[in-house]
Amino acid sequence: MTDPVLMLHDLQSWSPAGTALAVLGHPIGHSLSPPMHNAALAALARTDARFADWKYFRFDVPPDDLPRALDLLHAKGFHGVNLTVPHKVIAYDRVATVDPAARPVGAVNTLHRTDRGWRGFNTDGYGLATAVRETLGRELGGAHVVLLGAGGAARGAAVECLQRRCASLAIVNRTRTNLDALLGILAPLAGGIPLRGFALEQLGGSAIAPPGALVINATSAGLRDSDPTPVELRDLPRPAAVFDMIYNPPQTALLRAARALDVPHANGLAMLVHQGAKSLEIWSGVPAGQTAPAMASAARAALAG
Ligand code: ATR
Repeated sequence: MTDPVLMLHDLQSWSPAGTALAVLGHPIGHSLSPPMHNAALAALARTDARFADWKYFRFDVPPDDLPRALDLLHAKGFHGVNLTVPHKVIAYDRVATVDPAARPVGAVNTLHRTDRGWRGFNTDGYGLATAVRETLGRELGGAHVVLLGAGGAARGAAVECLQRRCASLAIVNRTRTNLDALLGILAPLAGGIPLRGFALEQLGGSAIAPPGALVINATSAGLRDSDPTPVELRDLPRPAAVFDMIYNPPQTALLRAARALDVPHANGLAMLVHQGAKSLEIWSGVPAGQTAPAMASAARAALAG
């Protein structure tokens, strides 16, 4: 049975029982995080009594209520929090401390309780790197990366690529101003790694990356079945592999184009799973690799259902 979607007023009357975790979003109804985490916690509890009373809840919190919700969650003794759309950037300025690795991302998706307040982390980059390795057998480190998009998801992906020392990073975006803003943020992190930006209309003809690059979609184009591909794959030098962060729908126009060209490709489900497993590692100390399989099964079952 699915747990109910809770609201701020449920939190106000919350009486603590066990070790509570939560995800906050708006909307939150379709989040796969509750089934993923509760499946992993149930699996852990079978062999480790410490986890018998851990439970993961979901709260629908509009952006204006986020500060109050974070204060209340801390006051009520919650152990950890996940943040999803639209809270990752808003929460960044609302936490007591931020993990240094998350600072260039400017967004947090995982909060861990400390006596002084919440400490913010971002596990999306770990999720991306681990998913690309697992599904495509490729490392971000040493790869020529073509990154599609210049929003929040792209910023996280770009920071991870640079931190892992990719060979080069070419960012393609529809809107030039957004692209330039992201390039400005990333420039101080590049440390000698070639970093270049291309507006969509510049594609076709320009050698944006050598053949054999890794293409990563971090745009929201593809979230609806009717969405066009964010870039014509044929306009790029033939890539070695394509990773789309979108997992629902499981096949985007970009992934269909990759399949048509016989290019190895994967959707973002594994990224969702591994960012979740890393969050649970931060809260529990259990290595992410240990809980990822239970999360993956639960995510697949929830999507199928
Ligand atoms: P997120 O937090 O998911 O990254 P965002 O910050 O709103 O969301 O960024 C959305 C990204 O998807 C942007 O790069 C956006 O391009 P623009 O900067 O041109 O807006 C990109 N995007 C959205 N729809 C798109 C489409 N149909 N084709 C190409 N890019 C698209």
